[in-house]
Amino acid sequence: MPDQFRLGLDTLAEEAAELKSLQVPAVMIFGLPESKDERGSGAWARDGIVQQAVQRLKDANPELIVMGDVCLCEYTDHGHCGLLQPDGSVDNDLTLPLLADTAVSLTEAGCDIIAPSDMMDGRVHAIRTALDNAGFVETPILSYAAKFASAFYGPFREAADSTPAFGDRRGYQADPANARIAVDEVLTDLAEGADMVMVKPALPYLDIIRRVRDAVDVPVAAYNVSGEYSMLMGAIANGWLEGPRAVDEALLSIRRAGADTIITYHAKDWARRHI
Ligand code: PBG
Ligand code: ZN
Repeated sequence: MPDQFRLGLDTLAEEAAELKSLQVPAVMIFGLPESKDERGSGAWARDGIVQQAVQRLKDANPELIVMGDVCLCEYTDHGHCGLLQPDGSVDNDLTLPLLADTAVSLTEAGCDIIAPSDMMDGRVHAIRTALDNAGFVETPILSYAAKFASAFYGPFREAADSTPAFGDRRGYQADPANARIAVDEVLTDLAEGADMVMVKPALPYLDIIRRVRDAVDVPVAAYNVSGEYSMLMGAIANGWLEGPRAVDEALLSIRRAGADTIITYHAKDWARRHI
């Protein structure tokens, strides 16, 4: 992705200082472990890459809000978001304790918000219970509630080396044709204890953002994903679209659809131009 980089631990202090000067209030971080295994053990390792990264960011900029994405796909050698059964499908229930432990480890490391993106059924309840039992009763959960099985995650998967080795994520992510399921998933996650909900992707799902915004009173976040970013930046690089205007209009549309928070790769560029 143009202007997006994988950062090493030793660059994070500088990054945190830059975010502070740009007044970017929050980041979501993703890890690329040195090695991956069948169970994704790097996700909950107490010295895992994200656990170390949070501490570096917080040391350099204590006010920065750090969101921890909870999923196994960056850590499993097969690239799926949970444990596999012998037939190659994901075992929902056996995955839950691993996600819960990942959430606890990220919170211990200093994450302010826990954001489960795995899409297993019952994960919000499992994570809420585990956080409470560990004494983290105040740590909020931002649930990727309406997350669709999208083609727009491609550049992220390339960057995180998390493309499934076989099959796809349609068994656990929502069908792009199904608008009603989004509100169902949101209500389920809130009943399980989510504090905020997310719609993902954003631009091809503005109708879903609006439906969710109208259905609930909690904060709604929208994730403007890697493929949306790449599509715009590619068109701008080719001279087909006018840069800043097209970016700002796209972000504005997400806001207009009803998102309170936008998670976007454009954040630093936007802040440089507007803050
Ligand atoms: C992990 C996860 C993904 C993204 C965020 N968390 C990839 C996926 O579900 O395959 C995608 C983010 C992006 O495309 O920017 N489950
Ligand atoms: Zn995943």
